[in-house]
Amino acid sequence: MTPNEAPRSRAAGAPSDHRHLLDVAGLEWGQLRRLLDVAGQMRAILATPERRSDELRGTIVATLFYEASTRTRLSFEIAARALGAELLSFDVGTSSVGKGESLVDTLRTLRALGADVVVLRHERSGAPWLAARAFDGSVINAGDGWHAHPTQALLDLSVLSARIGGADGSLRGRSIAIIGDLLHSRVVRSNLHTLIAAGASVRLAGPANLVAGFADLADALTREARARSGDAAGSAQLVASIDAALDGVDAAMALRIQRERLSGGEIDSLEGYRRDWGLTEERLAARAASGCLVMHPGPMNEGVEIDADVADGQRSLVLDQVAAGVPMRMAVLSLAARGELP
Ligand code: CP
Repeated sequence: MTPNEAPRSRAAGAPSDHRHLLDVAGLEWGQLRRLLDVAGQMRAILATPERRSDELRGTIVATLFYEASTRTRLSFEIAARALGAELLSFDVGTSSVGKGESLVDTLRTLRALGADVVVLRHERSGAPWLAARAFDGSVINAGDGWHAHPTQALLDLSVLSARIGGADGSLRGRSIAIIGDLLHSRVVRSNLHTLIAAGASVRLAGPANLVAGFADLADALTREARARSGDAAGSAQLVASIDAALDGVDAAMALRIQRERLSGGEIDSLEGYRRDWGLTEERLAARAASGCLVMHPGPMNEGVEIDADVADGQRSLVLDQVAAGVPMRMAVLSLAARGELP
């Protein structure tokens, strides 16, 4: 599977029983609205003195992360506990993966130990689809290679919907810029689907060698959305500069320069990258709508793709994004257990 491929779980041959969340490609606004609503119910649980329910009592949730994570892993673990599930926090680094055990054998082992749900992050695009065929339970994609990060897109949508959404929570009439290293970003590939489905106009921008394929992807997704939803459809376009991306936007998301995925030569220097593509207060003040909100999925390279005063400033939703991960991931785990994922 190439990163810009957008398989529908059913088309890709994964089980179609609504226990898995592999991707957000192809989801429609009504399905996203349901996820936002269930996340709202989970926020209400988190606001009670107990901060938990026992909806998933007796369920074992395993977190299986082959790549580093802070936000996604911890928020899934908090979410599982808040629903009363037992947690198997699998440490790939000290496991038999180091002896060469395959992903499929690891999943079969977790199932034999009683795991009902696997939350999987893997460096290979498509690994969750393989997992869904091998694991006789629920598989939740917590990020696969450059390809997809469905729960990040869902939590980003929940934050934007709450802050700048219309009466129905949709983003119709809103413009969102996503700026930076698109090429290596599973976050942008998933956000494109959810933001367009929510009706937003998305503007993409980044250095020429880090946006390969995105003009075509943006056009294809816009055409699909128009065919599906007519005038209510959102859209996406690749623009040539950060200034064009920021022009009048309601929210701007900076993407991390993924130094661990660069092969060398993609950017001249970090200073040059900040100069040409960095989200700075000066640029936002000059170009964006007044009150433009700022997002970053984290972790951030402050002083490179985003300045520290922007990340920590009044416009910033960075910590709102982190906090929104818990109720959204509770919603995903709850719907997985009920077999009601879209
Ligand atoms: N946004 C995100 O996926 O962060 P982590 O890598 O810390 O989970």
